[in-house]
Amino acid sequence: MNYTKIAGLGYYVPEQVVTNEELTQVMDTSSEWIIERTGIEERRYGKRNLETTTTMGARAAEIAMERAGVDKSEIDFIIFATLSPDYFFPGCGVLVQRELKMSQYEAPALDIRNQCSGFIYGLSIADQFIKTGQYKNILLIGSEMHSMGLDFSTRGRNVTVIFGDGAGAAVLQPSVEPGILNTCLHSDGTYAEELAFINPGSHGGYHLGTERFGYGDEKYGGIFLTKKMWESEDYFPHMNGQLVFKTAVTKFPEVIMESLKKEGLTAQDISILIPHQANLRISQFVQRQLKLRDDQVWNNIQRYGNTTAASIPIALTEAFEAGKIKKGDLVCLAAFGSGFTWGSALIRW
Ligand code: ACO
Repeated sequence: MNYTKIAGLGYYVPEQVVTNEELTQVMDTSSEWIIERTGIEERRYGKRNLETTTTMGARAAEIAMERAGVDKSEIDFIIFATLSPDYFFPGCGVLVQRELKMSQYEAPALDIRNQCSGFIYGLSIADQFIKTGQYKNILLIGSEMHSMGLDFSTRGRNVTVIFGDGAGAAVLQPSVEPGILNTCLHSDGTYAEELAFINPGSHGGYHLGTERFGYGDEKYGGIFLTKKMWESEDYFPHMNGQLVFKTAVTKFPEVIMESLKKEGLTAQDISILIPHQANLRISQFVQRQLKLRDDQVWNNIQRYGNTTAASIPIALTEAFEAGKIKKGDLVCLAAFGSGFTWGSALIRW
C-alpha cells in the first residue's frame, strides 16, 4: 500500500492588520458584536494593487517547497483552491505558476472551486494522483483575497466582518508509511444560493427568477453584468448565517466521525483537530460534540478571520510550527462551506 504525505507546509498573511474597531469606522457594527458571535478580533487585508490571491499563494508555496526540499522544477502538478480568484478565467493555477517563474516546466495546473472545503477537496485529489503513481510532487495552494470583493457598507456587515485575506500551501509526496489515511468528501446543492457570490454571472436569472437582475431585451448578451446589478450594487457575497451555522454544526461532526470510523478510531484518538476557521462558535460547538479538550483543537480565527480555502493550511502550518504536531500524531482536518460542500481528512503524521 502506498500513501501520500505532507512533505512541506507554508503560509502567508498580509502585513496589514484590520481590527474590529477599524471596521466600526465604515459600517454600523461593534467589536463586542463581532467577538461575541464569531470570536474574531482582527483580520489581515492584502495591499491593494500589490498583492492578490495569486501572489499570496505564491509566497506560501515558496515556503512549503523550501521546507519539503523540493525545487520548483520538480513540481509535477499544481492545485489551486480559491473563491476569490484574480480573474474569472484563467484560474490562479496558471497565474501562480507564472508568479513562481516555473511556467517553463509546463506542469499541469488545476483550479478548484470548493470554497471553504477547497483545501480538503484539493488534498483528496492530490492523494488520488499520488496513489496511482501519476505525480510525485504536488503543490496544493489555498488562497483568498476577500477584502477586494466585500461590501464595506452596513448592508454587508454580516458577511464582511467575518472574512480575511491569506494563503496556505502544502507539498504532497508519495510515502511508504501513512500519510493520509483517508479523505471524505460531500456536497448538497439544495442551498447553493444561501452562501454565494451570484453577480456578475451567466445564470440569466434561471435559479432565482429574472426580476432581480434587470435583464434587457437584447437578442444576445446583456446578462452577465446588467445595469440593474450595478445600480443596486447587487454584486457582493450573500450569506444566510443562521442556516450556515445550523448545517455546519451538524456536518462537521458527521464527516469527522466518518473518517474516524473508516479507520476504526474514535474522537479520543485525535491528537489535533484543525477545523476550517468558519466561526469560533462553530469550532467550539464541534469540540463539545466530540468531547475534545482545548489542546486537541487549533483555532486562529481570532487573529485572521475566516480565510476560506486558506484557513486550514494556515492553521495546520501554525500548529506545526508551534510544535503541536509530532511524528505519529493523528491529525484531523475538517471543513464545511458554500455549496454546501464539506469534507474531512485524517492524517497520520
Ligand atoms: N454588527 C452588528 N450587527 C450585525 C452584524 C454586525 N456585523 N451583522 C448582523 N447584525 C445584526 C443583524 O442586522 C440583525 O439585526 P436585527 O435583529 O435588528 O435584524 C442581528 O444582528 C442578528 O442577525 P443575524 O444574521 O440573525 O445574526 P446571527 O446571530 O445569526 O449572527 C452570524 C450572524 C455571526 C453570521 C451567524 O449567523 C453565524 O455565525 N453564522 C455562521 C456563518 C459563518 O460562520 N459563516 C462563515 C462563512 S461560511 C463558512 O466558512 C462555513
